[in-house]
Amino acid sequence: MRLADKVTIITGAGGGMGRVAATMFAKEGAKVVVAEYSEAAGQETVDLIRADGGDATFVKADVSKEGDAQAMVDHAVATYGRLDCLYNNAGVMPEADHSVTDTAVDVWDQVMAVNVRGVFLGCKYGIPAMEAAGGGSIINIASFVALVGCSVPQDAYTASKGAVLSLTRSLAVQYGPKGIRANAICPGPVETPLLMDWLVKDEAAKQLRLARNPTGRFGKPEEIVHMAIYLASDESRWTNGASLVVDGGITVNYF
Ligand SMILES: NC(=O)c1ccc[n+]([C@@H]2O[C@H](COP(=O)([O-])OP(=O)(O)OC[C@H]3O[C@@H](n4cnc5c(N)ncnc54)[C@H](O)[C@@H]3O)[C@@H](O)[C@H]2O)c1
Repeated sequence: MRLADKVTIITGAGGGMGRVAATMFAKEGAKVVVAEYSEAAGQETVDLIRADGGDATFVKADVSKEGDAQAMVDHAVATYGRLDCLYNNAGVMPEADHSVTDTAVDVWDQVMAVNVRGVFLGCKYGIPAMEAAGGGSIINIASFVALVGCSVPQDAYTASKGAVLSLTRSLAVQYGPKGIRANAICPGPVETPLLMDWLVKDEAAKQLRLARNPTGRFGKPEEIVHMAIYLASDESRWTNGASLVVDGGITVNYF
């Protein structure tokens, strides 16, 4: 198994890619801390993993809240004795996030609170725990929209994911000497509730995205998680500060 006994916190693991990540990490032998603000969804992920013979525990955490981020890391260390991997996956993309000219300040702040402050707080408390463990791996989920402009704008979301990429590079340089690697994954459009709940109401936006992708389809959550497994494992011991694009080629498509 590629992640045997690696204690991994996965935020937003009650649904979408986070839940798929939690189940795939457990199958690879990781001890998974399911950190999620929906108690029912998070507990369901834990039940799925345990039913399959895996090891997981639930902690209720809203990643945008400092006390919750600290409690999430404390729970991991209290339950499993250490922290090897922090997988900052939780993110939001509200429908009301448009262009800067028509996005409300509270929508902007909500996106930044989860997508950027959430990563900051996870690292603020997770890094000392990984230092105590002698090293570790931080996996930050950004997005392809941090790399290209989009004529169907979601400007708060786009800016938040750009911040995740720059923070990842800064962490890689600061903590690489201490054995903590930090990398980001930029997924393309993936079939999860986050995207599908939105596109189901907008067929034109859906077709626009499909037409731009050389593979002609959306990604599947496991196609992103395979990259995360690599980053959590010792196979990636010299991969640090990278922004790894997994998007079917949408960001390299000129026409
Ligand atoms: N789906 C895509 O096409 C796509 C593309 C690029 C990047 N991403 C990113 O991938 C990550 C996962 O996205 P997804 O599509 O699986 O989303 P999703 O909405 O399907 O699932 C997100 C999960 O995070 C939880 N969550 C939301 N806010 C939280 C908070 N404050 N604290 C704790 N948990 C919280 C939700 O309850 C849910 O279980 C996000 O960071 C997203 O921005 C998604």
